[in-house]
Amino acid sequence: MSNNPIGIFDSGVGGTSIWKEIHQLLPNENTIYLADSLNAPYGSKGSEVITELSIKNTELLLSKNCKLIVVACNTATTNAIDYLRKNFDVPFIGIEPAIKPAALNTKTNAVGILATKGTLTSALFSKTSGMFASHIKVVEQVGEGIVELIESGKLHSDEMKGLLSEYLKPMISANIDYLVLGCTHYPYLIPMLIELLPNHVKIIDSGEAVARQTKAILEQHNVLNTSISKVKNEFFTNGNVDVMATLLGSKFDVEYLEF
Ligand code: DGL
Repeated sequence: MSNNPIGIFDSGVGGTSIWKEIHQLLPNENTIYLADSLNAPYGSKGSEVITELSIKNTELLLSKNCKLIVVACNTATTNAIDYLRKNFDVPFIGIEPAIKPAALNTKTNAVGILATKGTLTSALFSKTSGMFASHIKVVEQVGEGIVELIESGKLHSDEMKGLLSEYLKPMISANIDYLVLGCTHYPYLIPMLIELLPNHVKIIDSGEAVARQTKAILEQHNVLNTSISKVKNEFFTNGNVDVMATLLGSKFDVEYLEF
């Protein structure tokens, strides 16, 4: 069991930002990553559809004997993880916007959050936000169009810069000192966001916390990989292989798979 892979899925290539954190912390683990790019973006879909897609991805990962599943997508976590946990007999790790640390540490009493519509309108997000951030101003912004640009290989485009400048304007006017990235595609935007934001604004995402939680749960279930055989990291997409390969760098192969 312990050398079975960790399964990771996202609506597309964004969850590779989470895979990188997991691989860095747990280099000995075998992994299988699924990018459901054909169905991206999840963020503009309803909760039921997001849950159906998450079930499909989970079933495929389980058919490949994954010992644990990381839902590397805020939208799928906030809409579907309760269902997945109730209906599949495997540990699930999810990712949610890091609103708590931002709300605890803000000095200006204003934080920004950039996420998908599906995440910002979810019951789980409003619960977390109500619990930790009701005393401060939270400037919520739907990142309309961002996932589509990243999925089509336009991460470093003028179009992207234009969208981000527009989305950051109300946050900058509200004098935020933290920007929470609530979508796993967005860590790839950090260099551009740094350019566009005032110097004092800190950017936070939940990637590292997810990797730590993954390690803790593997330890708790006693299934950390201790075998010395060669580690296998497999990447599958039902979308554009090249876009994903570019984000991963040349060391890893990406395979096209229909699912
Ligand atoms: N990476 C997904 C997330 O974290 C993107 C959602 C989408 O496909 O809209 O929310």
